[in-house]
Amino acid sequence: MRTTVGIIGAGPAGLLLARLLHDAGIDSVVLESRDRTYVEHRQRAGILEQGTVDVLREVGAGARMDGEGLRHDGIELRFAKQRHRVDFPALAGGRSVMVYAQTEVCKDLIALQLAEGGPLLFEAEALAVEDADSDRPRVRFRHEGREDVLECDYVVGCDGFWGVARKAIPARLTQVFERTYPFAWLGILADVPPSHDELVYARHDRGFALLSMRSPSVSRLYLQVPEGTDADSWSDDAIWAELERRFETADDWRLARGPITQKSVTPMRSYVHEPMRYGRLFLAGDAAHIVPPTGAKGLNLAVGDVVTFARALTYAKEKGSAELLDAYSETCLRRVWQAERFSYDMTSLLHRAPDATAFEDRLQLARLERISSSRAAETDLAEAYTGFPFG
Ligand code: APR
Ligand code: PHB
Repeated sequence: MRTTVGIIGAGPAGLLLARLLHDAGIDSVVLESRDRTYVEHRQRAGILEQGTVDVLREVGAGARMDGEGLRHDGIELRFAKQRHRVDFPALAGGRSVMVYAQTEVCKDLIALQLAEGGPLLFEAEALAVEDADSDRPRVRFRHEGREDVLECDYVVGCDGFWGVARKAIPARLTQVFERTYPFAWLGILADVPPSHDELVYARHDRGFALLSMRSPSVSRLYLQVPEGTDADSWSDDAIWAELERRFETADDWRLARGPITQKSVTPMRSYVHEPMRYGRLFLAGDAAHIVPPTGAKGLNLAVGDVVTFARALTYAKEKGSAELLDAYSETCLRRVWQAERFSYDMTSLLHRAPDATAFEDRLQLARLERISSSRAAETDLAEAYTGFPFG
């Protein structure tokens, strides 16, 4: 098989890239190791930055998002039983975010690609990227029990943190920056209307909690738990009781309970692989970087990467210049590191490390007080949360 751009992975990065290239008249083939049902049901975060919303509309994947997504103009910070709302449009030049689940974004992009795009092969596992530093990089893959080769002009590794693309970059050219955290998130989906109309990020001496949502009738809630926690070790009652404690306010706000339909534990990690390009192999999304979920940046970073790649390749095709392709890694990494910084700051602002001291507790509260009382500090949060420009 032969194509211009071989895309490994049909997560949001690979799927959106296929659409962007299709619209630019560039053909591609997407190889995805899992089956369609699995990809369409994987629970992930659900906050889309303004820039991500705009791109999804541009590629024609905005209809259901605009109908069912919830526009959010702020978040609430909750600490010491107090509540502070951060007003995004007022602080960040009119920008807001959209609550629309990543699984739904994937469903919309898959439907479009199958209706009017190039090949998207499920249960096609990439085994290795070969000759990445030549003009003819190739992807060896297994599909329907047979090994095959996809010959390409370019390969984009959108195969997530556990993928194979990154391994094709020689270790001597690679630098990895990493941090793990001694806690994780226990996440639940519950059939109950969200108890607040915007997301609530709560700092508590017992640990962080987050109130989010998937729709007006489905809540998504998270609790900070020790790293390595087994989700089944938490009964439904214990989860609700702990959420109530951490969200408690001095006013009459109450958390509504409902049937829990799903429970899972998400580990927390910061990770950046540099460079994001080697010859004609480009890494995008989780294949190159991971952020802890506190700032909701994972999906939005993946979108920035593939927009940058599609622009660079279109420029090369139209102008005959590889200048933007050559700058790909540097361009993406500038934005990636801003998101790494923000996600790390939000994580350390709101979580309680197992060995935290009383001094660190007071510092967290002082930082939260600062955000609540200084327009400059609050603007910094609002700008980062609503998103940095692509490249
Ligand atoms: N061959 C083919 N496909 C593969 C391979 C392989 N060897 N290895 C992994 N994949 C597929 C995975 O099954 C998955 O569908 O690559 C896809 C990677 O998708 P994501 O993990 O969703 O990564 P990405 O598209 O970069 O999206 C980033 O996902 O993890 C979240 O928080 C993150 O929201 C962010 C988003
Ligand atoms: C989610 O809804 O899953 C979500 C929202 C905000 C975050 C992380 C996850 O910061």
